[in-house]
Amino acid sequence: MKKKGMLITLEGNEGCGKSTQIKLLYQFLKKKQRRVFLTREPGGTRVGDAIREILLDNKNKSLTAVTETLLYMASRAQLVEEIIAPRLAKGEIVLCDRWSDATVAYQGFGGSVDAKWIQSLAEKATQGVKPALSLFLDLPLAVGLRRAVSHKKADRMERKALLFHQRVRQGYRWIARQEPSRFRCLQIVPKDSIEVVHEKIKLEILRVLES
Ligand code: TMP
Repeated sequence: MKKKGMLITLEGNEGCGKSTQIKLLYQFLKKKQRRVFLTREPGGTRVGDAIREILLDNKNKSLTAVTETLLYMASRAQLVEEIIAPRLAKGEIVLCDRWSDATVAYQGFGGSVDAKWIQSLAEKATQGVKPALSLFLDLPLAVGLRRAVSHKKADRMERKALLFHQRVRQGYRWIARQEPSRFRCLQIVPKDSIEVVHEKIKLEILRVLES
């Protein structure tokens, strides 16, 4: 029987180490001889990268939450059509740094855009492609934001107030309650090393890959 591809997505609050972790996961799966592809949102295509620039540019202070929603969705539609759907069809594992859950959490819960509308847009933009597993790295917000802001020049999203990020976190926890078998929250404590977090992620991934 032809092996079906699998989409796995990683989410997390700002500064949680998500991008480091998804790269480690990619290397781990490569070593296990899996056909795996790593991409990210917003971006991952030429058009998506141009949209990412607009979204994260500190000069674009006037972007409304609805405009943000549509731009994130446009980047996602392009990524699914160009990259994700064809690779899944070839039986690959696709790892994606964020997914439409981020739009529900950030623009829906953070920006007060109707979450049901976002979910119906996402259905169209993703052509119904669903992750087999989505992991939310849940590091205490104040720690993550401090890290994000001290590591590099904070982008437009990272600069938003703590209250906004608290609502975003509530959004992710809401998704976890709606879809507990797909969307799982991993508690990260500040003293967890990169290796410890990697081990926690591996346990979850192996459970899905071996099921
Ligand atoms: P990153 O931190 O994973 O690179 O993502 C860039 C920022 O974009 C981050 O602050 C989360 C935000 N974002 C949204 O607000 N909505 C979305 O749909 C996505 C994919 C990201």
